[in-house]
Amino acid sequence: MNTATPVILDCDPGHDDMLAIMLAAANPDVELLGITTVSGNGSLDKVTYNAQRICALAGITVPIGRGANDPLSGKASAAPTIHGASALDGADLPEPTYDVSPLPAVELIAKLVDECDRRVTLIPTGPLTNIAMFLQAYPELHSKIERISFMGGSTERGNWTPYAEFNIWADPEAADIVIRSGLEVTMSGLNITHQALATEEVLNRILSLDTPLARTVVDLLIFFKQTYQDVFNMPDPPLHDPVAVALVIDPEIARMKFAPVAVELEGALTRGATLVDLYGTTGQEANVHVAMELDVDLFWNLVIGAIARLGAHS
Ligand code: RIB
Ligand code: CA
Repeated sequence: MNTATPVILDCDPGHDDMLAIMLAAANPDVELLGITTVSGNGSLDKVTYNAQRICALAGITVPIGRGANDPLSGKASAAPTIHGASALDGADLPEPTYDVSPLPAVELIAKLVDECDRRVTLIPTGPLTNIAMFLQAYPELHSKIERISFMGGSTERGNWTPYAEFNIWADPEAADIVIRSGLEVTMSGLNITHQALATEEVLNRILSLDTPLARTVVDLLIFFKQTYQDVFNMPDPPLHDPVAVALVIDPEIARMKFAPVAVELEGALTRGATLVDLYGTTGQEANVHVAMELDVDLFWNLVIGAIARLGAHS
């Protein structure tokens, strides 16, 4: 019996999504069943092409399903100031080695979940549009979802507006559906992902792997570092998305708080904010496992270990 946790990664690559893909593909405690894409850091075409190129670079061969180009309401967003015009600037990447799945994202998720012999963990690291659409279209498959470990939101301030984090801001209605789904939901918000900083020491550890893959990853992270310095005046960039994967690999990697979480849908200035009731002042029922404090050394050991494994074969 395969004891690895089966996972599906729904993403918008994106530099940090790239490391989430590599961690999910290479860590032996998870089994990556497939990748689905959603517009966010770039258009659906760009993030899907990037997912294909990351798989070509790292020798990953799982099915890739194209997802939503627009949020449930409103228009698509992008983040070229952070990830560049291609949504993954900073290095020359190989062309795709295989086509995307003929199944669109929601149907691919349904097929992979239905056919898996274990309950599946969904790991969204972009806007939650695909996941919300899957939950609405396939209620009969909810019993086969182990949990949803998403990167998004924050217990504090935002990064796209003063109080909204990008993934939630891009599709607040989808986030609301996921958070109120009644499934086990784990949130890796900015409050914890800003502890996962790609410092000079981390970049040097990756470079010391001395493989073409490691060098390409560092080139991409150097681009990401520069945009975070330019936009946020942060010396080291936070690698948000692999935190959501690391929590599935090792639930002990972070201190968690089970708390009531709600998404602001109406606020003229706060739409997309995640209201995390850490002190029980709202009287609401807790509904989300909120990651609070990261074991940073263990996190980077997991990420660098994945790059090392992939680099040995690609
Ligand atoms: O706010 C950070 C999140 O938005 C990350 O997932 C990043 O890749 C972008 O999608
Ligand atoms: Ca992302």
